[in-house]
Amino acid sequence: ALPRDLEGLRVVVSAGGTREPLDPVRYLGNRSSGKQGYALARVAAQRGAEVTLVAGHTVELPEPAGAVLRRVSTAEQMREAVAEAAKEADVVVMAAAVADFRPASRSGHKIKKTDDQPDPVITLSRNPDILAELVTNRLPGQVIVGFAAETGDERGSVLDHGRAKLRRKGCDLLVLNAVGDGRAFEVEENAGWLLAADGTERPIPLGSKAQLAAAVWDAVGEFLRH
Ligand code: PMT
Repeated sequence: ALPRDLEGLRVVVSAGGTREPLDPVRYLGNRSSGKQGYALARVAAQRGAEVTLVAGHTVELPEPAGAVLRRVSTAEQMREAVAEAAKEADVVVMAAAVADFRPASRSGHKIKKTDDQPDPVITLSRNPDILAELVTNRLPGQVIVGFAAETGDERGSVLDHGRAKLRRKGCDLLVLNAVGDGRAFEVEENAGWLLAADGTERPIPLGSKAQLAAAVWDAVGEFLRH
């Protein structure tokens, strides 16, 4: 049996990907399946927390027992639902893959292909940064956990990007996932690092998404005790 060490805690977890509509039939989306966020919600509920799960688009997943489920589609809707739930939360974990940009305009009718027109260009505008807003509006003592999906590139390693993101976003803990080459998104297993605002860094070995969730809740528990 799992420890009931999260008893009395109210937690909000976001999961899945947002969809940003172009017209009534098309959208910009991403590969998040929701599996990691659902695992976080399920493990938290099993360990005694009161859980609100704000879910964007996911593959078909069983509803985590004991969690209140709120379904959303766009980043704007996720922002509203998360902000509302965060007003009464001790911990907020943003595991969702929120689109940074959305089509600047949304057509009310299906965009047609015609022969006499130039190829269409999609202009994007910036979406709200939900995690940054949570940090700005943080309640006293509230713990805010971000996720980061990063790839290494010529500007730095996955860890470099994760450290920079932790500083930029100002959250207490950042769960860093290396992505690309079939990692993290959609699959059953995940690995990464737990980066804390005090500079502590801990690797999370490859394991099930429930195991990664357990490591995150262990770290949150430790954070709350200090
Ligand atoms: O859903 P799965 O298939 O199980 O995959 C899990 C996962 C790989 C999606 C998950 O583990 C993960 O890494 N989620 C965050 C992915 C991501 O979008 O990272 P990011 O670097 O773009 O965003 C950083 C953080 O800011 C995240 O906590 C994100 O929720 C948040 N964010 C991002 C953009 C935005 N506009 N608002 C936000 O709040």
